[in-house]
Amino acid sequence: MRKQLLLLLIVVCSLCSTAQYKTYTTPDKVYGILFKDVQLQHVFEDDKTFADCTPKRSPASIRVDYERIKRATPSSFSLHDFVLQNFYLPDSIAVTAGSEARENIVAHIQHLWKVLQRDPDSAITGSSLLALPYHYIVPGGRFREIYYWDSYFTMLGLQESHEYTLMEDMVNNFAYLITTYGHIPNGNRTYYLSRSQPPFFSLMVDLLAKQKGNVVYATYQKALQDEYDYWMDKTGTTQHVVKMPNGSILNRFYDADDQPRQEGYSIDYNLAEKLPHTAFDTALYRNLRTGAETGWDFSTRWFADNRNIITIQTTNLIPVDLNGLLYHLELTLATSYQQTGNLAKASRFRQLALQRKKAINTYCWNAAKHWYYDYNITERKQSSQPTLAGITPLFFSIAPPSHTALIAAVLQQRFLKDGGLVTTLITSGQQWDAPNGWAPLQWMAIKGLINYHQTTLAHEITKRWITLNVHTYQQTGKLMEKYNVVDIHQKAGGGEYPGQDGFGWTNGVLLKLISLYGANP
Ligand SMILES: *[C@@H]1O[C@H](CO)[C@@H](O)[C@H](O)[C@H]1NC(C)=O
Ligand SMILES: *[C@@H]1O[C@H](CO)[C@@H](O)[C@H](O)[C@H]1NC(C)=O
Ligand SMILES: *[C@@H]1O[C@H](CO)[C@@H](O)[C@H](O)[C@H]1NC(C)=O
Repeated sequence: MRKQLLLLLIVVCSLCSTAQYKTYTTPDKVYGILFKDVQLQHVFEDDKTFADCTPKRSPASIRVDYERIKRATPSSFSLHDFVLQNFYLPDSIAVTAGSEARENIVAHIQHLWKVLQRDPDSAITGSSLLALPYHYIVPGGRFREIYYWDSYFTMLGLQESHEYTLMEDMVNNFAYLITTYGHIPNGNRTYYLSRSQPPFFSLMVDLLAKQKGNVVYATYQKALQDEYDYWMDKTGTTQHVVKMPNGSILNRFYDADDQPRQEGYSIDYNLAEKLPHTAFDTALYRNLRTGAETGWDFSTRWFADNRNIITIQTTNLIPVDLNGLLYHLELTLATSYQQTGNLAKASRFRQLALQRKKAINTYCWNAAKHWYYDYNITERKQSSQPTLAGITPLFFSIAPPSHTALIAAVLQQRFLKDGGLVTTLITSGQQWDAPNGWAPLQWMAIKGLINYHQTTLAHEITKRWITLNVHTYQQTGKLMEKYNVVDIHQKAGGGEYPGQDGFGWTNGVLLKLISLYGANP
């Protein structure tokens, strides 16, 4: 009896000493050889389709039948029919406005919140979906789940539509994901658990505080701290922390896994096949996955030769935007501990934020080129490629005011195009490069310029972006995931999948900009 009690105590204590996070089995593990066959034989055009299928019966019996039927009828076996017999295919969310709705884009977006909203769900065996306890908004198209950094920009629009309960539900879902899995995954799918995405949770808490007051900084203190511990490698198996040459600390993106992405399985697998056998290293898969964690999947920003994805080396760069986000997280933790009276911790986090700000200005600011760059870890110098991420030190108020006019001049001369700001200056066929522009980057640039009183340029960018969004909407009835800002009469292209519409963050940023400048700025 006493022995049992002692055992119980040991078990309970081991539970309380280390956080216990849920672990999940991804579709490749659930379906084994069937998963690989479906992806590599291209049963579906998009690798994400099978990764998102829901089984009609127990996954184990499907696997057994697959082996059995294939062996019994090798000549007449159809993998395509087998999948259709045994799985429900996921829906694609398409929304095209009718001609009368095209008059009023704001009313259309407000209607879309209902179309893109999802109820809380419950887990299904054999499905990659991670159930969430509160309502949320999905981006649209092939993106049928909640996405981390998308959601912040969606929430900017929810705020303008006074959808405060939905905003709070979304923050609660993310807090739930942190406490359940130890971090916020890229999206709510098992195959997204090995990584996160640009950490905007602390900015979401800021948005909520505008409605509910500063008490929210105390409410979400544990979630904020857990998110920080994840990015600082205190939990999990990631390696996000990098010690800089002079001993200061900055961060990089890093996916814990080094296998092909499940939702892009054949793409990653076939890319690796192009390398000579001796040159292959699973680091290629990790760098592709890490590219997805950056949110910029994919971009020549991460390619060593600025050209070919096979040279991808995402983990070798210190991204300037990621470090701005962690600076904001440190300041938010300082505010949170101040709220709850823990002055020592509040002061510690203010100090960490200050150190990070100094390090960003030391390692990422280029005084000759008047722009902020990523930093190349092995080469110990800045990356040679200017990207629109270089504007984010204005968004996070990290840049000294004396840099402002210099940065604004580069932005205007090199990045400003007819339809808004272009992502990079290289036209590569990747979607996070020229000629494409993306809503989240327009917003961070415009807000950053407003922070530093560059209002004329902020207004000009807004005008061009709103005009492009509204014009495309009137022509097609759609709000797109991304836009071609260089040739405003062409559709945006590039990347691994066709252009998607819906679309969460475009809608959110557009409503925010219209509220600041009107629909015809
Ligand atoms: C998560 O993703 C799935 C994706 O299909 C979605 O259906 C579900 O409702 C989302 N939320 C939760 C948790 O499951
Ligand atoms: C980083 O440095 C390495 C090693 O010198 C170099 O080969 C690579 O091109 C650089 N990567 C980027 C993205 O600039
Ligand atoms: C490293 O550089 C940063 C940024 O300039 C500075 O704040 C810090 O004091 C330096 N650290 C050391 C150990 O010299």
